[in-house]
Amino acid sequence: MTTGTPRKLGLANRSSNYGDREFALYLRRSFAKSMGYSQAMLDKPVVGIADTASDYNNCHRTVPELLEAVKRGVLAAGGLPLAFPTVSLCEPSLNPCSMHYRNLMALDTEAMLAAQPMDAAVLIGGCDKTVPAQLMAAVSAGTPSVMLVTGPMLAQAFEGERLSACTDCRRYWAKYRAGEVTEDKIATIEGKLATTAGTCGVMGTASTMACIAAVLGFMPLDAASAPAVHADRLRIAEEAGAQAVRLIQKPMPPAALVTVESVENAMRVLLSLGGSTNAVVHLAAIAGRAGVTLDLARLDALSETTPVLVDLKPTGEGYMEDFHAAGGMRALLWELRDLLHLDTPDLDGTPLRARIGDGSHFVDRKIIRARETPISPVGGIVILRGSLAPDGAILKRSAATPALFETEARCVVFDGLEDLANRIDDPALDVTPQDILVLKGAGPRSPAGMPEAGYLPIPKKLARAGVKDMVRISDCRMSGTAFGTIVLHVAPEAAVGGPLALAETGDRIRLSVKDRRLDLLVDEATLAARRAAWQPAPAPARGWDRLVHEQVTQAPLGADLAFLRPPG
Ligand code: FES
Ligand code: MG
Repeated sequence: MTTGTPRKLGLANRSSNYGDREFALYLRRSFAKSMGYSQAMLDKPVVGIADTASDYNNCHRTVPELLEAVKRGVLAAGGLPLAFPTVSLCEPSLNPCSMHYRNLMALDTEAMLAAQPMDAAVLIGGCDKTVPAQLMAAVSAGTPSVMLVTGPMLAQAFEGERLSACTDCRRYWAKYRAGEVTEDKIATIEGKLATTAGTCGVMGTASTMACIAAVLGFMPLDAASAPAVHADRLRIAEEAGAQAVRLIQKPMPPAALVTVESVENAMRVLLSLGGSTNAVVHLAAIAGRAGVTLDLARLDALSETTPVLVDLKPTGEGYMEDFHAAGGMRALLWELRDLLHLDTPDLDGTPLRARIGDGSHFVDRKIIRARETPISPVGGIVILRGSLAPDGAILKRSAATPALFETEARCVVFDGLEDLANRIDDPALDVTPQDILVLKGAGPRSPAGMPEAGYLPIPKKLARAGVKDMVRISDCRMSGTAFGTIVLHVAPEAAVGGPLALAETGDRIRLSVKDRRLDLLVDEATLAARRAAWQPAPAPARGWDRLVHEQVTQAPLGADLAFLRPPG
């Protein structure tokens, strides 16, 4: 065994423990040998692979076979693949919510990327919080990293239509609440909503983040939408392994892909997809790790000049498999090319212009519209500000009811998720279809951890009377697969004493999408008295909850932990 000068690459990388570099290397190699690797293998540069398989994570069911394909790609290209487990987050499986743990996964992944000897990495993710967590981690660790998503599930034929998670989950659940769907049918549908491996099949958060990761350059454009169970997905995984080895020869630091220009491209893509509102928070967090501020005013301005072109649920009709077959990201970016910064590089250093190609690709216009015939001439998301949201709030207008865009009404306030659950269906609840529903105490610093509860249910008695939508306002998020006139991410949140904390049932609120305003119409003296009486909730005693409470930033900064952002 050679224990001479430390090599630049491979298992000898970053070994300086025990205060004796040569002994450390000797020990590491002898332990690696116990795993049965030959010396020739141990001499190769190392690609670490973040393995997020978990029995709790259905969206990552294919990770074991993806891992094998990545390893194949790494080996064939001359590297040694070494997989390691990290935190894995599945959207519906976590308490209080997955968002509460996104930063834990980011911290875990960053620490393991930095601590373990590796020269490049492949990050296997997919479900909503995993891709943002991994990109945040890669940017902070500085390890050249390829993103590999598990890919979207396939839709399921059912009684003359198709179903997929999770716009259809919400659609049918709303019908069930309204008494339009029987107990038997809703039980049958439960087994038809998610029938293959992969991430939610609509343009929800997972799909939006996959498209964003692709336009940022962390993976090929086609890789954003190839179905989870298609053989192409395994070829994409194999190529991710090969790409990681290329990165060792010609490193591209992750932060170099996250610039003011590339983040603007990502915002354009988000808007033209009619993508998930959650992506705004995640993109802000990823950008923040690279020292780039996601400017909400800029996002609002871009929204005015970015058409919605992709006809997928929840905004439209199709599913991710349709988007892929219709030409996917390449076709979309071709339509948007005059709005994009075309010099932004991918991992290979290839500029976006070259990645998009020459427009000779196939496009199915039913799913990806031409610029002249958009689904909407303006983007899906707008930013609101006003006395109720001095630091901003967000509304997905493409999934909202235009008739409610200019609303001034009395509000009915729920203080936290428990209060909401206890009272929303109470037949005695004093609520009319014209009222605005407000949920406070569910932001990033609240014990709820900014869950996807912003899609407040229509009170049962109103739902049964045929009410389909109401203005709903909260400091939390909503699922990227949801729809309705829903104002989200109100900042500052109630838990830090933002104006939302002071709103009470009976107050009047004005929403104006036209003026981008969200105002609490209560006089200053009344607000001052309420402010004086306001008490913050006690801090959690210990552990992760305590760290989140002390460090979490507000939504405009991505709800990242302050100490994980770069200094300054
Ligand atoms: Fe994992 Fe939707 S629950 S992507
Ligand atoms: Mg989701």
